[in-house]
Amino acid sequence: MTAIHELDYGTPAVTSTTMVSLTIDGRPVTVPAGTSVMRAATMAGIGIPKLCATDSLEPFGSCRLCLVQIDGRKGFPASCTTPVEPGMRVTTQNRKLGDLRRGVMELYISDHPLDCLTCSANGDCELQDMAGAVGLREVRYGYEGENHLKLKKDTSNPYFTFDASKCIVCSRCVRACEEIQGTYALTIDGRGFASKVSPGQMEPFMESECVSCGACVQACPTATLMENTVIEAGTPEHEIVTTCAYCGVGCSFKAEMKGAEVVRMTPNKDGHANHGHSCVKGRFAWGYATHKDRITKPMIRKRISDPWREVSWEEAINYAAAEFKRIQASHGVGAVGAISSSRCTNEETYLMQKLVRAAFGNNNIDTCARVCHSPTGYGLKQTLGESAGTQDFDSIRQTDVVFIIGANPTDGHPVFASYMKRRLREGAKLIIADPRRIDLVRSPHVQADYHLKLRPGTNVALINALAHVVVTEGLANEAFVAERCEADSYRLWKEFVARPEHSPEATESVTGVPAETMRAAARLYATGGNAAIYYGLGVTEHSQGSTMVIGIANLAMATGNIGREGVGVNPLRGQNNVQGSCDMGSFPHEFPGYRHVLDDSTRNLFESTWGVALEPEPGLRIPNMFDAALDGSFKGLYLEGEDIAQSDPNTQHVTASLEAMECIVVQDLFLNETAKFAHVFLPGSSFLEKNGTFTNAERRISPVRKVMPPLAGMEDWEITVALSNALGYPMHYTHPSEIMDEIARLTPTFTGVSYEKLDRLGSIQWPCNDEHPEGTPVMHEKTFVRGKGRFLLTEYVPTTERVNSQYPLILTTGRILSQYNVGAQTRRTANVDWHEEDRLEIHPHDAEERGIREGDWVGIVSRAGETTLRALITERVQPGVVYTTFHHPESGANVITTENSDWATNCPEYKVTAVQVMPVFHSSEWQQRYRKFSEQQIALLQQSTPASA
Ligand code: SF4
Ligand code: SF4
Ligand code: SF4
Ligand code: FES
Repeated sequence: MTAIHELDYGTPAVTSTTMVSLTIDGRPVTVPAGTSVMRAATMAGIGIPKLCATDSLEPFGSCRLCLVQIDGRKGFPASCTTPVEPGMRVTTQNRKLGDLRRGVMELYISDHPLDCLTCSANGDCELQDMAGAVGLREVRYGYEGENHLKLKKDTSNPYFTFDASKCIVCSRCVRACEEIQGTYALTIDGRGFASKVSPGQMEPFMESECVSCGACVQACPTATLMENTVIEAGTPEHEIVTTCAYCGVGCSFKAEMKGAEVVRMTPNKDGHANHGHSCVKGRFAWGYATHKDRITKPMIRKRISDPWREVSWEEAINYAAAEFKRIQASHGVGAVGAISSSRCTNEETYLMQKLVRAAFGNNNIDTCARVCHSPTGYGLKQTLGESAGTQDFDSIRQTDVVFIIGANPTDGHPVFASYMKRRLREGAKLIIADPRRIDLVRSPHVQADYHLKLRPGTNVALINALAHVVVTEGLANEAFVAERCEADSYRLWKEFVARPEHSPEATESVTGVPAETMRAAARLYATGGNAAIYYGLGVTEHSQGSTMVIGIANLAMATGNIGREGVGVNPLRGQNNVQGSCDMGSFPHEFPGYRHVLDDSTRNLFESTWGVALEPEPGLRIPNMFDAALDGSFKGLYLEGEDIAQSDPNTQHVTASLEAMECIVVQDLFLNETAKFAHVFLPGSSFLEKNGTFTNAERRISPVRKVMPPLAGMEDWEITVALSNALGYPMHYTHPSEIMDEIARLTPTFTGVSYEKLDRLGSIQWPCNDEHPEGTPVMHEKTFVRGKGRFLLTEYVPTTERVNSQYPLILTTGRILSQYNVGAQTRRTANVDWHEEDRLEIHPHDAEERGIREGDWVGIVSRAGETTLRALITERVQPGVVYTTFHHPESGANVITTENSDWATNCPEYKVTAVQVMPVFHSSEWQQRYRKFSEQQIALLQQSTPASA
C-alpha cells in the first residue's frame, strides 16, 4: 500500500527532453514524449481509475479498469500502456467507459470477501477506492460460484501477512519483486480463474527466496499483502520524513504514525538515495526502539562489580564530569578521551569531538570508522584530494561495467544492490573480486562476467596485475591522464606496474586467480565503456587497506574512469553515518572537513570560534587508547553508540583495557557489551527520538527527524551538551539546526548546508557551497579536488598473518542482510528469525578432512584466541578459507581476530586471520567466561536501585 496522502501517477516518470502536447477531457496537457496517457492525465489533475498500474512499476495492462477513448482510434485502449502522441484527444469519462469499468469491478468484487469494515486496509484500499470511483452499486454474479474466499493466510513472515482470499491477481507484487527488488521470489501460478500469487514453488514466504524487502507489500493495492503492524494498530494518521539508521545507503522513509507510535515505515518515493525502496531492516526492523531492554534511567556505580544505582540526569552528568576531572588532575590532561560512533548523527559526532578538544583539552577522539573505512579516507585524499566516494547512486544508470571489490551489496547495501541488479539486467557487465561467492556472482538474471576469486590478503597484488595489463596492453586513457593527472607520478607508477613481477602470470600463484581471467577482467574494465568501482570492507580491513584504496584510485584515473556520471570510485560505507562521522572531525588528527590539527590557520579558526586554546598534537587512536589503558596512562573514556567490546579486534585485549580504566561512560540504548565494563550509563535516544542529519555513502546529508519523544527524556546531543557544561566548557545550543549552522560556518564543504535547505531539497550531497549551492552529485568533474590526480606506488607486501601447519586456514568475516553489525538493534527484532546465530562457513573439502559435519560445533583457534561456532558446509567459500559473521556477542568472532592493522590508519585486518578449525564438544574457555560475566552484569542491572530509593 502506498504511503498516506501520496499521489500515484500510475506509470513511472519519463526523462525525455522532447515534449508532446495533447488534450485530455478538453484540457491541454504538455508532457515528455513516452509518458503514458494515464500519467499525463494525473499530471493534469484528472484521475483515471486503475488497479494494476502504479508509478513505481512499468505498466502491465491487465486490469482493464483504466480504459479511455481516443479520437480516431478503435476500441478503448488502456491508458496505462498507451503513450501520448502529439495532438491526441483523450476522453477519460463517459457513459460507455463507466459501464465498462463497472463491469470489470463487478468481476473483481464477486470474488472478494466484502469484510471492508473489519479489514485492516479499510480506508486505505485501492480496490475500495476504485469501487467508489466507478460507481459500483451491485454485483450481479453473486458470491455462490467458484471463488478464492476460503484460501488460507500465510503468516510465515514475521512482518507481513499474505491473505490470498483478498488477491485480485494484479501482479503488482510479482512485478515489484522483479523490477524493484530483483529477487524474483513471486510468480503467478496457474491460468485464468485459477491463477494465484505464489512465493517460490507454492511455498510459504519464509521458505521461499523472499528477502522480506517489503516492495510487494508496498505495491499491493488491497489488504492481501499487509504489514502486521497495520493489521494490529490500524491505518496510520500522520507521517514524518526521516532517514534509516542502519546502513550507508541512507534510505529516506516516511514514519507513519498513530499519535506517538510508529505504525509503518514506508520508503519515501522522493528519497534521492532509495527512490521508494528499502530492505528488511529499514522497513521492518525498527521495533528495537521500544524494546523492553531499553535503559531509560541514568545509572552510576563505583566499581563494575557493584549493582547499578539509578540517578537523576544531573547527578549522572555531574558524576561523570567529576570523574573525568579527577582523572585529568592526577594522571594528566591526556588521560581521558572519547569514541563516537557512525550511528550518531552529524551533529552528535561534531559535539563529541568538540567536547574532547575544547572541554577535555586534548585530541583523544576517535570513531568506529577507524575499524572500517579509515583507509578510504587516507587513500582517496592522497590520490584524488577528497576523502569520499565520487558518485551518487543514480550514476550507476550510466555504468557499462560494474566492478565490485570486497563488498557484498545484496547483504550489506541491499537497496543499492537492487539498483545494480537492474542495471545489470539491462546489460551492464559485471566483474567481482571476492574470495567468496557472493550472491551477485549468480542470481536471477544476473551473472558475473568474471569472478576473481582471490586469496584473502592479496588485493594489492591483484590491483597491480590489473594495472599491469592496462599499461602494457596500451589500454590507459593517456589523453585523460595528460590533462587531469600529475605527469611525473603517472610516469613512475606506469614504470612500476609495468614491471614483469606485476604481470598476471607472475602473480597468479599469489592471488590464486588465473592470469587469463585477470587479463580479461582488466581489458573489460578499461575498454567496456563507463566503468565504476564499488568497494567495501574487503578492501579496507587489511594490513594494506590504504594501499589498495590507492591502487583502486590509480586504476580509475589511468583508465579515465572518474569525473563524470557512470564511472568513479565508490566506497560502500557500512554504517548509516560513517561518511558523516569522518566529515565531522572524529579522527584524532583532524578537525571537521579533514583539516589537520597541526594546521595553524585551521586551529586558529576553531580556537577563535570556540573561545579556547586547542592542542596542536594529534591525539590517541582507538588501539592507542587500549594500549595506554593497559600501561596505566589512559583512565577515562566516554563512548556514544559504540560497542568496542564486541566490534573491535582481539576482544580479550579490549576488555582487559576496559577493566584497567577508572571511569567508563557509556551512552547507548542498551546494556551493550562495553556497558558491562562501565561506571556511568547515560541512556541514549534512538533515531526515532531525535533530530539531526546522517550522511550516506554518496555524501548525501539527509534529515533525521524526531517522531516520538526520547524515552529517557534527552536527545543524545543534549546529553553531550550537558556533560560539556558540567566539565566547565559551556555549550549553548537549543536545537541541532544551530549545531549544523556552526558546522557550516567552520567547514568549507558545508558552507551552504542548513536545515532550511535540507527541508526544501530533501537531501544535499556535499560539497555544498557558493560554487555548488544545491550540492555535488559527481565529484572531480573538471579537476580533482587536489588539482592534479596523483598516482602513488602500491608495492604488495604480504600480511604477516600467514597460514602454517598450526593455523592452516584463513578466516575472513562479513555481515548478513538481516542483521546489522554488533546486532544490538537487529537482535532485538524479529530479524533473528533469519539469523539466530553466527555460523562458520567451511568448504566441503576442508570439512571432510577434519571430520566436520553440517551443524557440528567447531573450535576456531587463532594466535589471538579461541571460540566455537556451528559449522555450515558450503562451496561459497573456497578451500583453505573459512568465513563467519559477527552479529552475536557470544560468537566471539573478534576473540580470534588479531591486532594486525593497516599501516597508514590502524584499521584492523579483520579479513585475514590464520586459524585452525576442529570439531569440539564444548564451548571455548572465553565463551564460558563471557557467559558468566554477562550473567553477573545482567544480574547487577536487575539489582539496580531506583533513583528514589
Ligand atoms: S518481500 Fe521483497 S523479496 Fe519478498 S516477495 Fe516481496 S518483493 Fe519479493
Ligand atoms: S497480492 Fe496484492 S499485488 Fe499481488 S496480485 Fe494480489 S492483489 Fe495484486
Ligand atoms: S538498511 Fe540500508 S538499504 Fe536497508 S533500508 Fe536502511 S538504509 Fe536502506
Ligand atoms: S491500470 Fe491500466 S490496465 Fe490496469
